[in-house]
Amino acid sequence: MKVGIIGSGGREHALCHALKKSDKIKEIYCFPGNAGTAKIAQNISLDLQDFNNLKEFIFLKKIDLIVVGPEKPLVDGIVDFLEKQNIKVFGPNKIAAQLEGSKIFTKNLCNKYKIPTAKFGIFTNKEDANIFLNSSNFPLVIKADGLASGKGVYICEKKNKAIEAINEIFDGKFGDAKNLLIEEFLEGEEMSYFVISDGKTIKNFGTAQDHKRVLEGDKGKNTGGMGAYSPSRLISDSLDKKIINKIIKPTLRGLKELGATYKGFLYAGLMIIKNEPYLIEYNVRMGDPECQTILPKLNSDLLEIIISCCDGSLDKTKINWHDKKSLSIVLCSKGYPDEFEKNIPIKKLNQIKIRDNMFCYHAGTKIIKNEVCSIGGRVLNFVCLSESFKESRNEILNTLNLLSWENGFFRKDIGYKVINE
Ligand code: AMP
Ligand code: GLY
Repeated sequence: MKVGIIGSGGREHALCHALKKSDKIKEIYCFPGNAGTAKIAQNISLDLQDFNNLKEFIFLKKIDLIVVGPEKPLVDGIVDFLEKQNIKVFGPNKIAAQLEGSKIFTKNLCNKYKIPTAKFGIFTNKEDANIFLNSSNFPLVIKADGLASGKGVYICEKKNKAIEAINEIFDGKFGDAKNLLIEEFLEGEEMSYFVISDGKTIKNFGTAQDHKRVLEGDKGKNTGGMGAYSPSRLISDSLDKKIINKIIKPTLRGLKELGATYKGFLYAGLMIIKNEPYLIEYNVRMGDPECQTILPKLNSDLLEIIISCCDGSLDKTKINWHDKKSLSIVLCSKGYPDEFEKNIPIKKLNQIKIRDNMFCYHAGTKIIKNEVCSIGGRVLNFVCLSESFKESRNEILNTLNLLSWENGFFRKDIGYKVINE
């Protein structure tokens, strides 16, 4: 089979690596991929703003299946476009992708189907939002509607911060976000919860906890994710049942009533408060770095699972997992999530030995003059599978020390809540 993967991050390298293991794979194309995928697939640079470019390439190379990694093309309707051409594609369609594309869409769904979530109000102008602040308790959370690459969320301890946030959002900091949400602040512990669905059947696809803040001790600015561990320390059978029954199933029922079935990975960002789940947000894709952290635990053929989702036969497909602890640490460019230098060679990458229970997934990398160079904020993901989170973390830290990339930095405390020092 010939498979195409859309995206260029660590998540897509992990997907590419897992798919490559299938006996049925003949060729993989990555649009555009990175230096890691270049070793196991063909990287193809196309302008994906115009889906026609992709369609033509798919027909030219006779690609059998497209797997969409990131949210943007999903929200823009790539699945609807490709399906119209009878191209097999894994990911939710445009209606379903609003779960991530519009926070207001999701909140309205929560209201209608009584899905537990933070109390909220929707505001379409500065005046109304500011008047609401006069009668609010703090902290509260202000969110731009629409895609904002994880940056459109403000946790406001005080009123002046809330006023600033309202101004920034309505002054166009997040492009087309014309509305905002003001939400109750939920105090608990976060968990990333994943399912995969073919529209009829839902199957568990793991849990994780990621560390979004740039500094140790979960301090500093928000990032795309500095590292994660799987499984989450919070998950239990009883919590799992609550999440499925109170959150996932009503969501998929709601979509069905809007005429959409959900095919693809679904990622629920949850706040767990006293063993009760509350929905913070949905993402219509795997998480990054959660995907890199979870996929090494998969003990089944990913290609078969994905095809069964496209064909509506997920109920007949077994998904098995290794009973191991997986942990990932992201090596970033110094300066991230703000300004950072690009095109810096990672000199020792070819010399370090990656053990069998370890994985090095590339993210912002590119081969320049035969050398792997950094071109992004998050550069490499090191993942280790072992009997304990502590062992996994130690093995990665040893490897990162051997790599000693002078332009990079990483958090040494990933998983601190599950690792007793
Ligand atoms: P989001 O982009 O919606 O996931 O928000 C980014 C981060 O903000 C989340 O991972 C949470 O840490 C935090 N957050 C969002 N909404 C809330 C809320 N209602 N209460 C507390 N924290 C929140
Ligand atoms: N790690 C968070 C995300 O993928 O959105």
